[in-house]
Amino acid sequence: MGPRYRMAPGGELVGEITVPGDKSVSHRSVLFGAIAEGTTTVEGFLESEDCLATLQAMQAMGVMIERPAPGRVIVHGVGLHGLQPPPGLLDMGNAGTAMRLSMGLLAGQRFDTQLIGDASLTRRPMERAAAPLRLMGARIDTTAGKPPVTIHGHQRLTGIDYDLVVPSAQVKSAILIAGLYANGITAVQEHAVTRDHTERMLRAFGVAVTTEASGRVSLAGPSALQATHIAVPGDISSSAFFIVAAVLAAKDRFRIRNVGLNPTRIGVIEILRLMGADIQLEHERRAGDEPVADLVIRRSALHGIEVPESLVPLAIDEFPVLFVAAACAEGVTVVTGAAELRVKESDRIAVMAEGLQALGVRAEPTADGMRIEGGRIGGGVVDSHGDHRIAMSFAVAALHSAAPIEIRDVANVATSFPEFATLARAAGLRLVVEA
Ligand code: S3P
Repeated sequence: MGPRYRMAPGGELVGEITVPGDKSVSHRSVLFGAIAEGTTTVEGFLESEDCLATLQAMQAMGVMIERPAPGRVIVHGVGLHGLQPPPGLLDMGNAGTAMRLSMGLLAGQRFDTQLIGDASLTRRPMERAAAPLRLMGARIDTTAGKPPVTIHGHQRLTGIDYDLVVPSAQVKSAILIAGLYANGITAVQEHAVTRDHTERMLRAFGVAVTTEASGRVSLAGPSALQATHIAVPGDISSSAFFIVAAVLAAKDRFRIRNVGLNPTRIGVIEILRLMGADIQLEHERRAGDEPVADLVIRRSALHGIEVPESLVPLAIDEFPVLFVAAACAEGVTVVTGAAELRVKESDRIAVMAEGLQALGVRAEPTADGMRIEGGRIGGGVVDSHGDHRIAMSFAVAALHSAAPIEIRDVANVATSFPEFATLARAAGLRLVVEA
């Protein structure tokens, strides 16, 4: 069962916080640093279980990585062809990003590898990445479409022109990373915008990546990477819990410092603003290749909306806490076009609906979203189903609940946000961790 959060109802958000580094950017920093020529330095690296899975996989393949101080990582790149066969299985833990991006990387190696994950990751679809990689010439076996995944090395990869039907940055990235090893042009045609950290960071590593207005992303392989310095911005997905918390219960102005505001990630801010939230940006600047700013949030009365489907991919990881915001809003909120939520760390449509219903909220799951009637939240027991973002979302719900909320199975918060409980308490959430 593991640890649980006991949340007392109410509380006010006071002061300011700095959230830890972005998970997507942290994964990519060690992955690209590993195959670059020269020494890459990273600051603000997210030292969570997920990103450490990627880091340890690179170490297992012979990459020397130093961690001289919290958030500081020095990766001694081995070049495109310098990785060594790992001594055993590569365990990606809970991390879909680690597994799918590694599939692209390992497709281009001269040795075989096997990727495994925890119970949650072992239920998640891997063919979406394996299928396009096979079109490039890779030999990959999944287990009925899921992990364990075996990647056979020694294949000659050739560029493809791929139509990205599933709007997935992980799949796009796997293809582009394999493209670094492939002969010719590797191109991915997007139909919905997905996060572009791979494209931005590959450019920082000296790779010529072209992005066209039509949504076509391409690069010419083989292409070497040159070591660089990466400043990881604060994670907007981790910030989202505090953004919603402050919208619900800020005493005055609540500030979140140094939040990554990549335009492909800001759906949560746009959706909350449509619901009536007062969120301001201050000190807009750049952290390397990514825009960052401080967010200043005031308590605001929220109202229900029909969430525009165009914003869904830009907020895909933030829906658990957006559902909580909807439960606290006046009126009905409808989310559609979000079927991808069903294949995240848990089935986030089913699990959030179950949890909200346990707290007395009228939440109706649909095939691709949810309909939520806002109003008062009661108390009760919710099960996170081992999903970090579900656990943190229900902690935020307690700010508006009429009675205590107990959240079960919260150990996996450490996959993305190990400091969550400490930061949440400091900010004003009435949270107690029970072993
Ligand atoms: C991620 C992409 C998203 C997101 C995940 C991280 C990434 O997944 O949900 O948390 O770092 O590329 P999909 O691209 O599969 O939607």
